[in-house]
Amino acid sequence: MTDLPKTFRVKSFGCQMNVYDGERMGELLAANGMIAAEGDDADLVVLNTCHIREKAADRAYSDVGRLVRKDGTRPMVALAGCVAQAEGAEAQKRSKSIDLVVGPQAYHRLPEMVAQAAAGQRPVDTDMPAIAKFGALPPRRRSGPSAFLTVQEGCDKFCTYCVVPYTRGAEISRPFGDIVVEAQALVEGGAREITLLGQNVNAYADAINGDGLDLLIRTLAQIDRLERIRYTTSHPTDMTDALIAAHGDVEKLMPYLHLPVQSGSDRILKAMNRSHTAASYLATIAKVRAARPDIAISGDFIVGFPGETEKDFEDTLAIVDAVGYASAYSFKYSPRPGTPAASMEGAVEAHVMDERLQRLQRRLAEHSLTFNRATIGRDLTILIDRKGRLPGQMIGKTQWLQSVFVDSDARIGDMIDVTTTHALPNSLGGVLRRPDTLVAA
Ligand code: SAH
Ligand code: SF4
Ligand code: F3S
Repeated sequence: MTDLPKTFRVKSFGCQMNVYDGERMGELLAANGMIAAEGDDADLVVLNTCHIREKAADRAYSDVGRLVRKDGTRPMVALAGCVAQAEGAEAQKRSKSIDLVVGPQAYHRLPEMVAQAAAGQRPVDTDMPAIAKFGALPPRRRSGPSAFLTVQEGCDKFCTYCVVPYTRGAEISRPFGDIVVEAQALVEGGAREITLLGQNVNAYADAINGDGLDLLIRTLAQIDRLERIRYTTSHPTDMTDALIAAHGDVEKLMPYLHLPVQSGSDRILKAMNRSHTAASYLATIAKVRAARPDIAISGDFIVGFPGETEKDFEDTLAIVDAVGYASAYSFKYSPRPGTPAASMEGAVEAHVMDERLQRLQRRLAEHSLTFNRATIGRDLTILIDRKGRLPGQMIGKTQWLQSVFVDSDARIGDMIDVTTTHALPNSLGGVLRRPDTLVAA
C-alpha cells in the first residue's frame, strides 16, 4: 500500500499520436485531481513509450531504471504507449519498478489503475476496445497555438517491417461530429493550427456514412480563428482525388504533405508490402503538385531493408532527386520481433547501412537547403510557437513547416508577417515585415 500520487509527469517518446496520447493522459490525471509536476520528483511518472525501432524500447527501460532517486525511493511508474502494448505483463518481469502497464487503447482507465497500484496491485491493461477511450476522456483543455487531434487510429497495411498494426490494432476512424467538437474546444483553448493525426490519416472514413478526410478538412476549415489545418501520416495508396482536390481549394489547408515512400526500388517496396511502386508514387506526387503547385513534400525512408543492394539504394537516391523533398526522416532498418521482415534473409551489414544512411541524409539535406533557399526574400506569415535562445528572438512556422528565427516582441500564438533573409537546411532567418500587421492571439 502507498498513498495515491498527488503529482504526475507524462513523458512521451514516440510519434505525434504518442504525444497526443500523452497530452490526453495528462488531462485525464488532472481531471482526477492530480497536479502536473515539471521536475523528476513527481509521485507518478507515466512513460509513454514507442516501439517502432529497437533503441526506443531500450531507452524506455533504461528510463525506468533512472527514475530511482538517490535515496533509493522511486515514483509510481506507469508504462504506457506502444512498448506497453507489445510487452504487456512481460514488462513487469523485465523491470520490477513498473507498477502498471497500460496500452494505447486502454489509457482512459489510467486513474483507476493508479488507484489499484497504490493498493499494492500490479495492473496490466492492453485490451483494444474500439475507440472506447475517446468517449471516456475529459474534454480538451487549453493547448498551445498548434494542437494535435487524433481522427483515425491503427493500421491494416502490414508493411513487413512495422510493429504499428500490432501495437495500435486495426484501422478505426472516430465519428465526424466528435472530431468537430474536439477541434472547437482546441480552438477555444487557443489553438490556431490543428494537425489531424492517424497512422493512415488519409484512410479516414466516418463510421456512419463513410465521409472522408477531405470532407472533414472542409468542415473544420469553417471554424473561425482556426487558421491552419495539417494532417499526418498519409499512405500513398490512400491519397484520393477528393483529398488532392482539397489541397487545391481549401485555403486553410497548408501546402505541406508528408507522404512516406520508404524506398525507391520496386523490388524492395514489394518485399516491404507497400502496395505502391516508385512510378505510382511519383504519379501521385504529380497530381498533388498539379492541384497545389507550391506544396512542400516530406517523406520517410528506410535504408538497409533485408536484401537491399547498392542498385536498390541508388533507386532510393533517384526518387529523392525526382521528388525534391522539402524535408524527410530517414532510418536504418531495425528488425522488429514478430514482423515478417525480421525473418527475411539478406541482412545488410551494419557498416553498409551506416554508409547508405549518411549518403541518403546528405542528399536529403541538399534538397532541404534548396527548398529553403528558394523561399529567401519571400514575404511569409509565420505562426509563432516558441522562444529562440537569443534575447528577443522568437521562432515561428511557415506554411511549409519551416522554422523561421526572427527578432520580434510577438508572443507565442501570434501570426506575424516576415521577410525571409537566409536559409539553413533546417531553418530560415527572417525580419519583421510590417510590425503593424501583427495579429494578436
Ligand atoms: N504510417 C505511419 C508510420 C509509422 S512509423 C505513421 O503514422 O507515421 C514511421 C516511420 O518509421 C515509417 O514511415 C518508417 O519509415 C519507419 N519505420 C517503421 N518501422 C521501421 C523499422 N522496423 N525500422 C526502421 N524504420 C522503421
Ligand atoms: Fe507501419 Fe506501414 Fe502501417 Fe505505416 S502503413 S503504420 S509503416 S504498417
Ligand atoms: Fe511509436 Fe507507436 Fe507511434 S510504435 S511511432 S508510438 S504508433
